[in-house]
Amino acid sequence: MANDVIVVAGGGGFIGGHLVAKLLEQGHKNIRSIDIKPFDEWYQVFDGVENVQADLKLKDACEAACKDASRVYNLAADMGGMGFIENNKALCMLSVLINTHLLQAAHEAGVDRFFYASSACVYNADKQKSEDVVPLKEEDAYPAMPEDGYGWEKLFSERMCRHFREDFGLTTRVARFHNVYGPHGTWDGGREKAPAAICRKVINAKETGNHTIEVWGDGHQTRSFMYIDDCIEGILKITESDITEPINLGSDELTTINGLVDMVGEIAGIEVQRDHNLNAPKGVNGRNSDNTLITKLLGWAPGIPLREGMAKTYEWIYGEYLAKHGAATTK
Ligand code: NAD
Ligand code: GDD
Repeated sequence: MANDVIVVAGGGGFIGGHLVAKLLEQGHKNIRSIDIKPFDEWYQVFDGVENVQADLKLKDACEAACKDASRVYNLAADMGGMGFIENNKALCMLSVLINTHLLQAAHEAGVDRFFYASSACVYNADKQKSEDVVPLKEEDAYPAMPEDGYGWEKLFSERMCRHFREDFGLTTRVARFHNVYGPHGTWDGGREKAPAAICRKVINAKETGNHTIEVWGDGHQTRSFMYIDDCIEGILKITESDITEPINLGSDELTTINGLVDMVGEIAGIEVQRDHNLNAPKGVNGRNSDNTLITKLLGWAPGIPLREGMAKTYEWIYGEYLAKHGAATTK
């Protein structure tokens, strides 16, 4: 019998959960979703899917994961926003075991296509020193000077995908995600990225009546943020494409962090005061995605406006906040 199982590694996480939802929506029947977290901590759990709790750092678990598989989407990693990756470099680098063992198992199982989720953190730090950014092109990853820890792991794993393709004939596809946000993602606990963190802080300000929020850095840092629906569409398109080299998957709508705070304040309908913490994790000063290549090769690029995606994300986090903290006494 032909392999027909679609494997989503990291299916209990943010992007993995949304990918499973999309695959179900498309009518796929044999989906296996795997995550190390206990099921009650998965962001989304779906009926009609083979949900598995397993540690994909282990080769045995990867072999079981890839049994009868046609597609493997590797979205499993020990990661988070700057607050996590600056302080947990060893844990981030240990994710190399996940991709290594998944690649080996996928090759042994005769998987048709293997997708790997890389990151804009692979790009050379020298190209990201100024807030006044030149958008990053794919060739800017070399000469290598990626984000310490997390970025090195991503760059190494990208190369593993390349060599498994070249030497073993495994069809691998690699996308470099630029900061992804949306509902059903991490919004508190220390791994959250700026869009979710700012939403949470503004919601807290609205609920408590204290309108001053802590913002990491001076707020002049620039970033682009990609809404989850664009990310999922891009993953599916890139996986099915002929694009063999790592490619940007990100928005090219640039904002400062202060601009993001103002936007969320406007969504919330409150005036937000910023208390800048200059000692907090900051990452690079500026980063944007150059979408020339993806536009040329796919005739498509992420395009959901930040304001639209942030409004949806804010609404979802508001619900989570109220479920956790209850409604406020002071408005
Ligand atoms: P996430 O943390 O929500 O999801 C990752 C999932 O992997 C988690 O649920 C986690 O429990 C699981 N996992 C970790 N170690 C595991 C293990 N040993 N075995 C099995 N599962 C394990 O993160 P996400 O935002 O969904 O990110 C998905 C992928 O995209 C990751 O590879 C990440 O590095 C990459 N990425 C994400 C972003 C972003 O902005 N979200 C940006 C760049 C790259
Ligand atoms: N997380 C967070 N929380 N960041 C904040 C906050 C806050 O409360 N306030 C301001 N910031 C600033 C950070 O200091 C940083 O300069 C910027 O917002 C963006 O932070 P993050 O969203 O945490 O991360 P990033 O954009 O530097 O890197 C992220 O994106 C990469 C892909 O583009 C990380 O999630 C990486 O893991 C990911 O690969």
